[in-house]
Amino acid sequence: MSIVGHSFLSSNDISVEDINKIFTRASLFKREYESKGRIDHLVNQGSLGQKVITLIFSEPSTRTRTSFQMAALRLGLRVVSLDNMAVSSMKKGETIADTLRNVAAMWPDIIVARFNDDIESYDVVKNSKIPVINAGIGTHEHPTQALLDAFTILDSRGQIEGEKVLIVGDVLHSRVANSNLILLRKLGAEIAYCAPIEFQPKNDDWADVRQFPDRDEAVKWASVIMGLRIQKERHMGAAGSIALTVAAYRDKYRIGGDQLNHFQQDGILLHPGPVNRGVEFSNYVLSDSRCKVLNQVTNGVFVRASLLSFTLGLEVKEA
Ligand code: NCD
Repeated sequence: MSIVGHSFLSSNDISVEDINKIFTRASLFKREYESKGRIDHLVNQGSLGQKVITLIFSEPSTRTRTSFQMAALRLGLRVVSLDNMAVSSMKKGETIADTLRNVAAMWPDIIVARFNDDIESYDVVKNSKIPVINAGIGTHEHPTQALLDAFTILDSRGQIEGEKVLIVGDVLHSRVANSNLILLRKLGAEIAYCAPIEFQPKNDDWADVRQFPDRDEAVKWASVIMGLRIQKERHMGAAGSIALTVAAYRDKYRIGGDQLNHFQQDGILLHPGPVNRGVEFSNYVLSDSRCKVLNQVTNGVFVRASLLSFTLGLEVKEA
């Protein structure tokens, strides 16, 4: 598999064949965990050796960081996590790029990294000899989130090809949306979005993507609704802050009970989290059986375990 020993920085980096292999192994891990409460016995101990993965997170994270740790520990890997930058040398003024260079110089087997948009750091990870997994880089991409989202669609809907995926919300600032657009299209899904003018995407990838001005029309079209968090921390740009109020957003773009009434019965709702309750999705929506937000979180552990195992070239008993 071409992913062995390679970085995973973008959804563009991965072939459909590799995605399917990752999904097949993720399903195996999930089933095995459900029936036996462990997956480490599927991993050949010789291939596991004393492999160590490092996590470098200079932006906040709950799901991504914890699920990479969970995935690694479930496989039997060792984990070193640098995630509290207040006690790292970044506190003394060291840059994230130099932090990455120094951790790489310790020769871990994989670096899982999250940081804000920064050309120098992106250069470091692009040229790294040690495989780097992008765990969310600025507004750029978050490809493992897209993998687990696609896996959840497959798991809940039985297919990805032909699915109508509606992305709602702050598309402009969302690395999750960018990675999903590339990955889900590659897998044959149709993508559309619904967003206020302030949050509409500007990069070329989105130029030919269908846009619904009206939330209710969009919901009627979709088989999968993917909400996105309003990325407040990314709204203070060169052009100043964004004037749109939460109340104005909610009025036209929140998915609530009224929208669910005309959403298909076997459709699903996704959100990468954290959800601003009552803003992107109402509490009612979050408790609807079509809402798969916590399934995404569970799947994230097994999809990431599968990706780590392939990247490290671990031998896994597939049956
Ligand atoms: C997303 C992220 O960090 O990009 N969260 C996640 O990884 N599950 C989405 C977000 O923060 O809004």
